[in-house]
Amino acid sequence: MTDFTSVPPAELDMLQAAEELDKLAGEISHHDKLYHNDDAPEINDGDYDRLRIRYQEIENHFPNLIKKDGPRFTIGAPLSSGFKKIAHAKKMLSLNNAFSEEDVQAFSTKVKRFLGLEDDDELSLLAEPKIDGLSASLRYEKGRFIQGLTRGDGQVGEDITANLMTISQIPKELLGADYPDTLEVRGEVYMAGDDFQRLNKSQEEKGEKIFANPRNAAAGSLRQLDSKVTSKRELKFFAYSWGEISENFAKTQYEAIEKFKSWGFSVNDLTMLCSDISELIAHYDYIGEIRAGLNYDIDGVVYKVNDLGFQQRLGMVARAPRWAIAHKFPAEQAKTILKAVDYQIGRTGAVTPVARLEPVTVGGVVVSNASLHNADEIERLGLKIGDLVIVERAGDVIPKIVEAAKTADENIEIIFPVSCPSCGSLIEADEGEVVRRCSGGLICKDQRAARLRHFVSRNAFDIEGLGAKQIEFFFEKEMINSPADIFKLQKLDEGNLSNPLKKYEGWGERSVAKLWAAIEQRREISMERFLFALGIRRMGQQNARLICLNYLNIDNFIAVMHQAEDNQSETYKEFIAIDGIGDKVANTIVSFFAEPHNQEVLKDLLAQVKVLEFIPPEIKDSNVAGKVVVFTGKLKKLSRSEAKASAENLGAKVSSSVSRKTDILIAGEGAGSKLKKAEELGITVLTEEEWVILANA
Ligand code: IVH
Repeated sequence: MTDFTSVPPAELDMLQAAEELDKLAGEISHHDKLYHNDDAPEINDGDYDRLRIRYQEIENHFPNLIKKDGPRFTIGAPLSSGFKKIAHAKKMLSLNNAFSEEDVQAFSTKVKRFLGLEDDDELSLLAEPKIDGLSASLRYEKGRFIQGLTRGDGQVGEDITANLMTISQIPKELLGADYPDTLEVRGEVYMAGDDFQRLNKSQEEKGEKIFANPRNAAAGSLRQLDSKVTSKRELKFFAYSWGEISENFAKTQYEAIEKFKSWGFSVNDLTMLCSDISELIAHYDYIGEIRAGLNYDIDGVVYKVNDLGFQQRLGMVARAPRWAIAHKFPAEQAKTILKAVDYQIGRTGAVTPVARLEPVTVGGVVVSNASLHNADEIERLGLKIGDLVIVERAGDVIPKIVEAAKTADENIEIIFPVSCPSCGSLIEADEGEVVRRCSGGLICKDQRAARLRHFVSRNAFDIEGLGAKQIEFFFEKEMINSPADIFKLQKLDEGNLSNPLKKYEGWGERSVAKLWAAIEQRREISMERFLFALGIRRMGQQNARLICLNYLNIDNFIAVMHQAEDNQSETYKEFIAIDGIGDKVANTIVSFFAEPHNQEVLKDLLAQVKVLEFIPPEIKDSNVAGKVVVFTGKLKKLSRSEAKASAENLGAKVSSSVSRKTDILIAGEGAGSKLKKAEELGITVLTEEEWVILANA
């Protein structure tokens, strides 16, 4: 796909705009999922915001391309976990962002216009830190905490009541008596900085997952299916908003926060009432100055129109209220010297240049490495060793170099290696790809180590007590060389009477016993996890699932892969006919299984573990199985996500646009262009009620 990213929206033609919107929507939803469902973001908030801004800018130029289910209207990510889904009584909103004083000015002007105020009329706004945690909605009936939900996709949340019950800052009974009978208090669950440090230290000692930042730690803790685990994690809660209420309890935002406090909630003490923009900005600057010293992460300051009558009139648009805006902090930056560039080899051989920096403090964290992504990035930045560079850290994991601030002539050219620094094999790039790869495969020690780390990672074998650090340890000691060795480790150790594992620092009798038990538990593994764990390039979780759905058991699939080596064979053709598996993916996967070394590794591994047969999700032989359905308009009984999920459970395929391939259009209230198109194409149109009857028949 052509990349128009740098073209101003006004210069795109309609086709290019549509194409880029599509691409951006895919990227946004991918990152939403990583952030919200997997707690493992790949990009920083700034880059994410840029994707959304670009999306919005293009849509603004091409209003006819606005999609009702596009990123403009979606909040968070679709739900995926084992919690009960419950629709929010009132939608949980997101916030629009401001990145500059001008943006704040524009916000204020818009609000005043909307309310019919003069530009110089006073408008009271409440400024408060934007906490970098997870929002939750707490429902109280007659002052008793009865239910707590995550935000989910904004419409439907996950029932995490049991976990929220373990948070001491969430009152189980409200104090006082002046609260509405039904009251939903909303706010942010977060982990304080010192608690986060402590948690990571103990996780590391136990060989368990290290969290990248307090937000991820809070998310991981809140999403525990076992609330006993949550109760051991120190979580806190700030109240700042509300959902459904049986009666009004305040006239201003400020008064509401005071009420929350009187009922026993924690509220943020940096909340300040301001009467004009200069006061807002002064408070923003002040919070920015003390930010590094706060015991919780924030990523901006939220401004809210104080008068609730005004808020009511302003209402909301798409996914955010008109009466509030989040003024984001710029990513934190610092200058330092680029001392060297090293090259890391990933599990698929991808060579990633890593900048070694003169250590520098960026936003309270000492940074000495930064990712340079690939060779193109080095060229784009015009980097040389010895340069003074600007590094940026945006609240998340990997810092990056944004600019080479000064280049002296005598600085040293960076020459991307032509052979692998680990194994000496040739480094190559596939045509049209920026990523260069070591061609050594399993000969390469670094690739082997990276594959082993991947093998035990969270969505793969996920063996408790055997994280990246432990893998590194066993790998260096040559106790684990290939995945099968993990399952031979206990025998190996028991044979080593002179130097058993329990004698090593960090290992004791108990932790060793626990490790053996955890490994034993994984001798049976689902086919999805197994395929993903192999670390085959282009075999992400999604493709692994597609393969499971189509081939059901591992022996069958391996046999298929061998037959498919002939790419003229029916078997190969069937493989690429799977929706989602193209030629490129198919080729990569087939060649993996054709490679003798991989075959050996696989055979070895299969002698140790049992890969369970894939059990396809129960698809009832329903009236709608295999049908392509589209929902449009406002549904009364079902939320959009419920409707989609129920249709998919019945074996239907839900699409967002009407085309000739559509079988049924379910038209809710106010259905517009999709209904018209469906009628033109002669597609069956059902009401919501008719759909429910058909689907349940
Ligand atoms: S108000 C209708 N206030 O930021 C207003 N949100 O980007 C809804 N957040 O979903 C939110 N601190 O998770 C509000 N002081 C604060 C906040 C805050 C953090 C989060 C919240 C929201 C997200 C929007």
